[in-house]
This record gives sequence, structure tokens and C-alpha cells, in this order.
Amino acid sequence: MNASQDTIYAQASEHISDFQFDSRVAGVFSDMIRRSVPGYTQIINTIGDFADRFVKPNTQVYDLGCSLGAATLSIRRQIQGRDCRIVAVDNSESMVVRCQENLNAYVSDTEVELICGDIRDIDIENASLVVLNFTLQFLPPEDRDALIAKIYQGLNPGGLLVLSEKIRFDDAPIQSVLEELHLDFKRANGYSELEISQKRSALENVMKPDTLSTHQQRLTHQGFSHFSTWFQCFNFASMVAIK
Ligand SMILES: C[S@@+](CC[C@H](N)C(=O)[O-])C[C@H]1O[C@@H](n2cnc3c(N)ncnc32)[C@H](O)[C@@H]1O
Repeated sequence: MNASQDTIYAQASEHISDFQFDSRVAGVFSDMIRRSVPGYTQIINTIGDFADRFVKPNTQVYDLGCSLGAATLSIRRQIQGRDCRIVAVDNSESMVVRCQENLNAYVSDTEVELICGDIRDIDIENASLVVLNFTLQFLPPEDRDALIAKIYQGLNPGGLLVLSEKIRFDDAPIQSVLEELHLDFKRANGYSELEISQKRSALENVMKPDTLSTHQQRLTHQGFSHFSTWFQCFNFASMVAIK
């Protein structure tokens, strides 16, 4: 993977435009997400472990908002020889181009269909695993229920959804302390105060986190029988729901 360093918000800018997954972001995304999301590497590795346990022969796996393909690669390593297909989807052309290069770098007997498109337009069928790794938070809140409903319909009984998100808290002191600890994590990873505040402005209109209870209610309302948060560090969490 491209290990170029993220310096996108290092210079002061008079006008901060809304964050986009454009070619500049795609070029440094690997570094950006590791330095910004606590536990990202563990989450990626564990998605592979979930795949090993849940992916059934002759079924499909969906990686929705696949970016550079980190989750797809982690899953593909674990499901060799099962005659499965992974459908990886992202609507950023720059991400998809780089994702294809990353997929080509490794040999596998598992087919990956890489689609440049909107996850709201993708059919989901015969799925044993669906992954939304830090993607749902970028959908307009009013579109989230419909996507989860579609995923539920497309999963086979016993199938798994892994949903990782930045989360917010209704409890103000908890929100405040966990947000501060996250900012300390970014500082410890070399981001300056300027970078942190400019990126925050860029994300303000495009990323709208939900609370853990909103996620749980949405998933159970759409029919998922089993739910748990399996990972949380500060204001980042990864959840699982089984159909
Ligand atoms: C934070 S990144 C996801 C990280 C990735 N899943 C991983 O594990 O490395 C969010 C991705 O979702 C994509 N995305 C956002 N909204 C989308 C949509 N409506 N349809 C398809 N992709 C979308 C973005 O282009 C971006 O690559």
C-alpha cells in the first residue's frame, strides 16, 4: 500500500472546503486513517477473523466503501478455497484505481468484483458477510435506515454485518473526555493543532456520527437478532449484528 504521509491540512488555508475522498486523500489515505482512527489495524485484522468464521462456501461478501481495499484484502486472505466472491464498492474513482492496484499485488483464488459506484445503488444478495468499515457515517442520516434494511434483506440467515463508526455520546462529559482523548491520539501521531482543526472543519458537514444506541436501534429495528459492540476505543467503535 502507498505509505505517503498525510500533510493535506498542514498549511493554513483561508477557505476549508468540505472533505472529499479525492485523489489527494486517496494518495495518503493509508497513513491518514491509521493516524486518525484508534484501533484501525486491529479492526481490519479482526474483520478477517470474522470472515473466517462467518463466510460460507458459494456465498458473497460485500465491502461497502472499500477505499484502498484493506478490509477486502484481510477477508480474502481468510476465505481461500470457499468459492466465494467479494464485491467491493466505492464511489471515489481515485480510491477504486488504487484499490485495484492493491488487489493485483496479491495472488488469490477468490474473485473480487470492484465497483466504482454508490453503495445505495448496489444490489445485495446471497451474502454471508457485509462490511461497513467507517462508511455509514458519510451517508446522509436519512439514507441510513434504507441501506441497513437492504443489507438485512441481502444477508443469508446467520450472516454477519460488521459496522465500524466514529460515535457520539448524548452524555456531555463523556463526549468531551473521549473526544479529548481522541485528539491526544492524533497529536501523539504527529498531527498539529492546525491540521486537527482544519480537518475537523472539513468533516463537519459531511460526517455525522450517530450514538451507539441509535446504531443498535436501527439494526434491531431492521430485524437483526443479535448485536454487540466488539471494539471501542474513545469515540470509535466496531459493532457486529447477526441475521
Ligand atoms: C473512511 S473511508 C472507509 C475506509 C475503508 N472501509 C477501510 O476499511 O479502509 C469511507 C469510504 O466510503 C466511500 N463512500 C462514501 N460514501 C459512499 C457512497 N455513498 N457510496 C460508495 N462509497 C462511498 C468513500 O469514497 C471512502 O472511500
